Amino acid sequence: MLSAAISLLLLGGSARAALQVDLTSASSIKKAASDVAYDLMGYYSGNLSGQIPGILPGPPPAGEYYWWEGGALWGTMLDYWHYTGDATYNDVTKQALLFQTGPPQNAYMPRNYTISLGNDDQGFWGMSAMLAAELNFPNPPEDQPQWLELAQAVFNTQAAPDRHDDTCGGGLRWQIPISNIGYDYKNSIANGIFFNLGARLARYTQNNTYAEWAEKTWDWVAGVGMMDDEINVYDGGHVGVNCTDIFKAQFSYNAGVFMQGAAFMYDYTTGEDQKRWGDRVQRLVTRTLEIFFDTGPMIEVSCELEDRISCKTDMLAFKGFLHRWMASTAQLAPFAHDSIMNALKNSTAYAVKACSGGDNGRQCGFRWTTGEYDGLTGAGQEMNVVAALSVLLVDLEKSSITGPYTNTTGGTSQGNPFAGTTPDPSYDKGEVTKGDRVGAGILTAIVLTSLIGALVWMSLGAGESGAAPVKRRGDTRFGKLRRRI
Ligand SMILES: *[C@@H]1O[C@H](CO)[C@@H](O)[C@H](O)[C@H]1NC(C)=O
Ligand SMILES: *[C@@H]1O[C@H](CO)[C@@H](O)[C@H](O)[C@H]1NC(C)=O
Ligand SMILES: *[C@@H]1O[C@H](CO)[C@@H](O)[C@H](O)[C@H]1NC(C)=O
Ligand SMILES: *[C@@H]1O[C@H](CO)[C@@H](O)[C@H](O)[C@H]1NC(C)=O
Ligand SMILES: *[C@@H]1O[C@H](CO)[C@@H](O)[C@H](O)[C@H]1NC(C)=O
Ligand SMILES: *[C@@H]1O[C@H](CO)[C@@H](O)[C@H](O)[C@H]1NC(C)=O
Repeated sequence: MLSAAISLLLLGGSARAALQVDLTSASSIKKAASDVAYDLMGYYSGNLSGQIPGILPGPPPAGEYYWWEGGALWGTMLDYWHYTGDATYNDVTKQALLFQTGPPQNAYMPRNYTISLGNDDQGFWGMSAMLAAELNFPNPPEDQPQWLELAQAVFNTQAAPDRHDDTCGGGLRWQIPISNIGYDYKNSIANGIFFNLGARLARYTQNNTYAEWAEKTWDWVAGVGMMDDEINVYDGGHVGVNCTDIFKAQFSYNAGVFMQGAAFMYDYTTGEDQKRWGDRVQRLVTRTLEIFFDTGPMIEVSCELEDRISCKTDMLAFKGFLHRWMASTAQLAPFAHDSIMNALKNSTAYAVKACSGGDNGRQCGFRWTTGEYDGLTGAGQEMNVVAALSVLLVDLEKSSITGPYTNTTGGTSQGNPFAGTTPDPSYDKGEVTKGDRVGAGILTAIVLTSLIGALVWMSLGAGESGAAPVKRRGDTRFGKLRRRI
C-alpha cells in the first residue's frame, strides 16, 4: 500500500514534469510551445549586459553555436509569434535581427564572423528578415534598415558577379571569403537559400528579376546533379573536379529549402509555369515524406543512425526547419496541405515524447523515434519542438492565421532594390592602412594557413599511406574546424 502510494507519487511527479500536450487543442499546443520556447530562450543571453545581441553561445571555441544559428533562432521565434500570437520575445527578436546586420552595408556580413561566413550562414539571417517582412512583424524604426531591405541586401550580395563564377557551370560557392575552408565547395544549401530568397522576393515585390534568378539557380542545381531525377537533394561537390564528386548525403534542410521556395514560385507564377512549379512541389513533398518521415517521426537520416547520433550541433536544428518550411508549403500549395499536415502531426506526437529530460523534466532530446528523452539536449533540439508545435496551429486556428503577405496584400515592410550593392568601403582599405590591423590580419593568415595545412595533411592520409594528393569529398566538412557532417 505504502510503496504503491510512493510509486504513484513518483509517477505523478515525472508525468507532471514531462512536456504535456494535447495535439487536438490549440490552447494546449500554445501552452506547450510557450514552455519549450521559454527553455529555448534559456540558451540565449545576448540581451544581458556585456553580451552580444543576436547570437547563441559561440562561435566555437567560445561556445557550441555558429553565428548562423542565431539567424535561424530568430526565424523560429518569428514563426512562434506568428502562429501562437505570443509576443513575449518580439523585442528581443527585433533587437537581435537589427544588431547583426553589419553596417554600413547591412547585408548580414558583420566582420566578427567572417571566418565562418558561408553564403548559407548569411542566407539564414536573410531568410529571417524576409520572414519578418512576410509576417508583418513590427517594422524597425525609420533610421534602421527595414526587413525587406535586409533580405534584398543579402540577395543582392549573393547575386553579384563576384559570388558567381564559371566553375561547375555556375552557382554559389559554400563560403564567401576565399581563405575560408570550404571555399572550394559548391553546395545545395547555399544555392537553395539563394533560390528560396529569390522566389520569396519575387512574390513579395512582384519584381520578376528575382524569379529569373530562382529559375536559373534551380536549373543549375539540377543540371549539376545536386538534385537528381527522383528529386533527391544531395549535399554538394568540389570545384576542383567541376562538381562531379557530388556528396550524396541527404540533409532535410536541403530538401526543405527547395520545397518552400518552389511553393513560393507556385504561388507567384500562373499558367504553364505554375503547373511546372506545382509538379516540383508535389514531387519534393512525396520524396521528403519517403525519406525523412518513413516511419512517422521525422528522422535526420544522414546522421541520426540507428546505433548512434553522428549529427553535429548544426544538424541537430534541421528538424525544426523542415517542419516550418513544410507548413509554409502547405499554406501556399493547398494541394499538398493534407499530406504535409498529417505527417507533421504524426511526427510532432513523437517529438513531444522526447521532451522529458533535464533539470525541469521537459527538456527535449534529439531522437524522436523512441518515445523517450535521449539525453541530447541543446538549443537546436528545443527549436525543433517549438517549430513542430507552433506550425500545427495552421490547421487548428485556420481563421486567424494568415499566409505570408506581399507588398500588395498587407505587407508593410519597405524595400530598396539596391540594398547591399554598395560594399562597405572600409572592408578592404581600412585593413591595409592600419598597422595594427595588418598585424592582426597576418597573424590570422598564419594561423589559418597552418590549420588548412594540417587539415589537408590529415585528409590526404599523408601520415599513413602517402595516398594520392587529391582532396576528396567531405574533407573539410568532417574536420573539427568547420561544421556540418
Ligand atoms: C532578455 O530577454 C528575456 C526574454 O527572453 C527577458 O525576459 C529579459 O527581461 C531580457 N533581459 C534584459 C536585460 O533585457
Ligand atoms: C563584435 O565583437 C565585439 C567584441 O567582442 C563586440 O563588442 C561586438 O558587439 C560584436 N559585434 C557583433 C555584430 O557581433
Ligand atoms: C563542368 O560542369 C558543368 C555543369 O555540369 C558543365 O556544363 C561543363 O560542361 C563542365 N565543364 C567541363 C570542362 O567538363
Ligand atoms: C528589380 O530587381 C532588380 C534586381 O535586384 C533590380 O535591379 C531592379 O531595379 C528592380 N526593379 C524594380 C522596378 O524595382
Ligand atoms: C503515423 O505513423 C505511423 C507509422 O508509420 C502510421 O502507422 C500512422 O498511420 C501515422 N498516422 C498518421 C495520422 O499519419
Ligand atoms: C510597395 O512597393 C511600392 C514600390 O516599390 C512602394 O512604393 C510601396 O511603398 C510598397 N507598399 C508597401 C505597403 O510597402
